[in-house]
Amino acid sequence: MPTVFESIKHTFMPAKITNLTELFVEQLQDLYSAETQLIDALPLMAKAAYAKPLKDGFKMHLAQTKEHAKRLERILKGLKAEVGGKTCRAMQGLIKEGNEMIGEDALPEVKDAGLIAAAQRVEHYEIAGYGTVKTFATLMGEREIAATLGKTLKEESDTDKKLTAAAKTLNIKALMPSKGDKAKK
Ligand SMILES: [Fe+2]
Ligand SMILES: [Fe+2]
Repeated sequence: MPTVFESIKHTFMPAKITNLTELFVEQLQDLYSAETQLIDALPLMAKAAYAKPLKDGFKMHLAQTKEHAKRLERILKGLKAEVGGKTCRAMQGLIKEGNEMIGEDALPEVKDAGLIAAAQRVEHYEIAGYGTVKTFATLMGEREIAATLGKTLKEESDTDKKLTAAAKTLNIKALMPSKGDKAKK
């Protein structure tokens, strides 16, 4: 029978991570949490965007994000690991900042520049996460999993590049925004 301390420890402390495979699973669960949070957040970003290409870009990335979550689910199930059960705190924070931008009283062109700034932070976080798990998978000899994660990594990176391209035209508009109707969408 466990001592009182052992029971408390079991309840409040996560299990000890003893090897790279376990850390890999933990990292995948963290990314799964990040992706599922984004599935809820991206429609709000799309709704808040003023420029049509930006709006459409968010919508397109929402479809990709749903696929990213499915890929992680398949990988975790294949590893016989729990899919949920972890919360990505970093993504919670990034989304909170994105929501603050959505709620900002700003001219539409300026808000678009702010939405791009928030979205690129998200993409860079994902790029870091997927780069790590892809490397882990390669080290573990999991070639198929590494390829799947590499596919997602490429899509995150492409999204980041598209956001940079969008910023090039939209940030200029934010330099001299219209005094138009802020509610116009
Ligand atoms: Fe993603
Ligand atoms: Fe993404």
